[in-house]
Amino acid sequence: MESNAPIGVFDSGMGGITVVRQIHRDMPSEDILFYGDSAHAPYGLKTVDEIRGYCFSICDHLVDNGVKAIVVACNTATSACVNDLRKRYSLPIIGMEPALKVACDRGNGVPQHVIVAATPLTLREKKFANLFARFQDKHYLKRQPCPDLVTIVESGNLGNRDMVMNTLHKYFDGYDLASTDSVVLGCTHFVFFRDYFREFMPDNVAIIDGNEGTVRHLHVVLESLGALVDDDGGSAKPGHVTLESSSTDPDVMQLERSLFANGC
Ligand code: DGL
Repeated sequence: MESNAPIGVFDSGMGGITVVRQIHRDMPSEDILFYGDSAHAPYGLKTVDEIRGYCFSICDHLVDNGVKAIVVACNTATSACVNDLRKRYSLPIIGMEPALKVACDRGNGVPQHVIVAATPLTLREKKFANLFARFQDKHYLKRQPCPDLVTIVESGNLGNRDMVMNTLHKYFDGYDLASTDSVVLGCTHFVFFRDYFREFMPDNVAIIDGNEGTVRHLHVVLESLGALVDDDGGSAKPGHVTLESSSTDPDVMQLERSLFANGC
């Protein structure tokens, strides 16, 4: 494996940029090739077969471009087909799933009240059902699909405060938030809303996402394969980040660049 090769990252759209930002922060010397499938977003409302087809094409493209590993920066695509991807490609495939374990472990044995926010597909697939089953006996778990949050990012409306707050009211007003311990952001698009969630939720509610844990896992996997880039003891120049999209709309590319640079 070529350790100087880029790390491939993809998502249904721009949510994966939150993961690219985390990789670039935590593994700054690595080159990254990101592909956002904005022409086909949202995945969360599609079928498993459709998503699998898109993911195969994207991963073929990343592999053709010589990536050394692929991060599926999409909980939905991971739920739909991560095992199929692992069968099809011989390089490491790092998937993502809602950070429910992190949320439950925070209680140190005390039962936790957790709301898992994700796409409809993630919440109804077997992968999440298995994860849910591991924790549901000891904790109070709720599932909240939030598909409109994906559309808000993809349509360039992340800065539209009224739209975002109205959407959070729509999804979360029905919960007893005063007795909620945490909300898990189980979709990479939702990580862009972290500050909005913080403002919306009372202080007792922790906002949890899986991005840091995913990047830690990526680091461990590459290290174990001797595939980390040589960073010259930390003095190497910052890695190059290439952003691509399936959308040919110049505004989409501009939005990708701005989300990478500013996170909003
Ligand atoms: N960003 C994606 C995730 O983490 C999916 C969003 C979508 O396309 O529905 O699940």
